[in-house]
Parts: sequence; C-alpha cells; structure tokens
Amino acid sequence: MGVIKGVILAGGTGSRLHPLTRITNKHLLPIYDRPMVTYAVEAMVDAGVDEIMVVTGGTHAGEFFRLLGNGEEYGVDRLLYAYQERAGGIAEALGLTERFARGDKILVMLADNIIERSIRPMVEAFSAQERGARILLSPVDDPAHLRHLGVPELDGDGRVTRIHEKPDDPPSTYAVTGFYFYDASVFDVIPTLTPSRRGELEITDVNNWYVGQGTMELDVLEGFWGDAGESIDAYYEVNDFVRAHGANHPEPPPA
Ligand code: G1P
Repeated sequence: MGVIKGVILAGGTGSRLHPLTRITNKHLLPIYDRPMVTYAVEAMVDAGVDEIMVVTGGTHAGEFFRLLGNGEEYGVDRLLYAYQERAGGIAEALGLTERFARGDKILVMLADNIIERSIRPMVEAFSAQERGARILLSPVDDPAHLRHLGVPELDGDGRVTRIHEKPDDPPSTYAVTGFYFYDASVFDVIPTLTPSRRGELEITDVNNWYVGQGTMELDVLEGFWGDAGESIDAYYEVNDFVRAHGANHPEPPPA
C-alpha cells in the first residue's frame, strides 16, 4: 500500500459562526468535550494516516501548537504546520502543502466535518486506486440544506458527471463531504484555477477537473456526517450528535 499523507484544513474566517469566531478559530471551538480539529486528527490516525500537515491562518494559529504540539499525544508520527496568509479558499490552502506531499497521495479533510464512522475502508480503497481522486458523499434529503453544499450530478451507473457548488437546483440528494483523496496531479491543477464568485479557489473546481479526466471515484458514507461550520444550528446539531453517540467509530454502532 502506497503512503497516503494527511492534510487537515483548519483556516478560513469562520464568518458563518460570528461572533464566536471573532475570538478564536472555528476549528478550536468545542465539539462536546474537545476542540473540533482533534476529531479530524483522530479520524486520520485511526485510518492509518499518521503523517499530517495542518493548514491554518488568521490570528489564532498559535493555539494549534498549544493544542496539538508535535502530535505524539494523538498518535501522529510526523505533524507539520502551514500558515495561510489570506483566506483564499480551500484549494488555495491545499496548494500550500505541495512540498509536504512530495508526490505522495493525500487525504484532505476539512476540520469542521465530523463523522460517526471510521474512514479506514475508504483510505484502503484509495490506496488500491491507481490514480485520480475520490470523494465521499453523504445522503441529504433537504434541498435547502444542499443549496449550501457541493452536490454531485450522477449518471445511471452511479458515476459523477459534474459537481455543482451551492446549486440553486440540487441535481441529486447527496452532499459532497469535506473528505477528499487526491493523487499528486492535484498540485498541477490548483495553479490553473480562477477565483469563484465568492473570491475563493474552490475545491469543487479541483474535483471537476478529475471528473473531466474520468478518474473520480466515490464512496457513500454510512452513518452521521455533519459540517459544524455551516451555521450555528449545524454546529449545535453536530455537538448534540457527538455528545450522544461519539464519532470516528471503527465498527458500526450496536443496533
Ligand atoms: C465546502 C465545499 C463544499 C462541501 C462542504 C462540505 O463548502 O466547497 O463543496 O460540500 O465544504 O463541508 P464551504 O464550507 O466552503 O462552504
């Protein structure tokens, strides 16, 4: 199995959670009994990804050192940090990790995405995947919710034909979650992107490049998935879930 390195994206201004995020970074806010970013670290380490780069920015970046240190306490073998000078979007933040990745495959996680079940099976599937990318979908029924997310258009064989970012008219009932697997060509794609209407380099544009190449694979997540950064209500929904059921479980929870 080839090495898969981990990238945890924990920057951004967190404007949807103002004023909480005026005094700290969104990914340091509590989810139940610990800071949000630790769930992403745990998800990676439990799935066998233990060389990790955390990308953050803004005025609270130092707190990540205080929390995570050199990573030993969390089972990280090698923990590195990158600093994003400006909030230029997810794909811009990812671009900062090129020298860390050094040609290896990567698993990218948005640190505000929390899941019930382990991602180990998907990490193994991507290990076996010769090239390309892989996204994880989660079923979402509410079109109003989907309008705030990336939504895949699927063909009759269940392959992605295009991903629509925050679509007015969602083309399916799946969300593209903030877990992305890429081969090394991702770093050739990022410099070709142009900023979207919200002035950011969009991860959806990166994903659509792989869709265009015919090398985008997908898995559908089982169990709970939540984006705690989406709104204050989503933040509390994720908190309530984790408090009641925990997160990152290696086995399905007992029936
Ligand atoms: C980002 C992605 C979106 C994805 C979401 C998952 O949205 O752009 O495609 O569905 O994360 O959390 P953002 O949080 O930047 O609005």
